Amino acid sequence: MTNAPEIVLGVTGSIGAYRAGDIVRHLRDAGYVVSCVMTQRATKFISATTLQALSDRKVYTDLFDADEAHVIHTLLADRARVVLVAPATANIIGKFANGLADDLLSCLLLATRAKLVFAPAMNVHMWQHPTVQRNVQTLKKLGVRFVGPDVGKLACGYEAIGHIAEAEEIVKTVKQLVPSVGQLPVALAASSARKSKSKPARKNRR
Ligand SMILES: Cc1cc2nc3c(=O)[nH]c(=O)nc-3n(C[C@H](O)[C@H](O)[C@H](O)COP(=O)(O)O)c2cc1C
Repeated sequence: MTNAPEIVLGVTGSIGAYRAGDIVRHLRDAGYVVSCVMTQRATKFISATTLQALSDRKVYTDLFDADEAHVIHTLLADRARVVLVAPATANIIGKFANGLADDLLSCLLLATRAKLVFAPAMNVHMWQHPTVQRNVQTLKKLGVRFVGPDVGKLACGYEAIGHIAEAEEIVKTVKQLVPSVGQLPVALAASSARKSKSKPARKNRR
């Protein structure tokens, strides 16, 4: 049992998924517990085994997991202090902006009251598409923090905006929203641990 705040890392189907392992490592080094949720498409880019080994926890990929006694999307939604989606595809941005819930990650995003951070990664023209920009603005208005995308060498060959932000930048935003117990002065850390023990499960923390 640990008092460390839990971060749910949602990984979606982008080339930028290679960065998810680094993000898990940085989050754990900073003192967070990390639970990973992968979309089915994300598993085409990076294996669940990698994230399981790095997070030291089960990685969830299926909304209907026959091995799970719990309703996993609501359980993780309640436990998370931050839900970080990195990389975030145009698809998950569009689904969340429109209230769609057809897989584990999109259900979890609607079910949680945790703080939300998205780190988009996609082709420059996808990113600049008016529909994607409209969806991003919708989510920003709802309080979702965006980190990146950065300008960089994209898989499609362009040197342009669309590259996933650096892992350190992404984790910095998480730390600003929810400091890990290790980042707090000793007296504050003890009080934070006491509060997290007595915290009601469904309190709105956004
Ligand atoms: C090689 C390859 C790379 C892709 N990279 C991206 C990407 O960086 N960003 C993005 O939004 N979609 C990308 N896509 C498309 C997504 O994988 C696709 O929209 C998928 O449905 C996303 O599903 P998800 O959001 O459930 O993970 C890529 C597809 C392929 C085949």
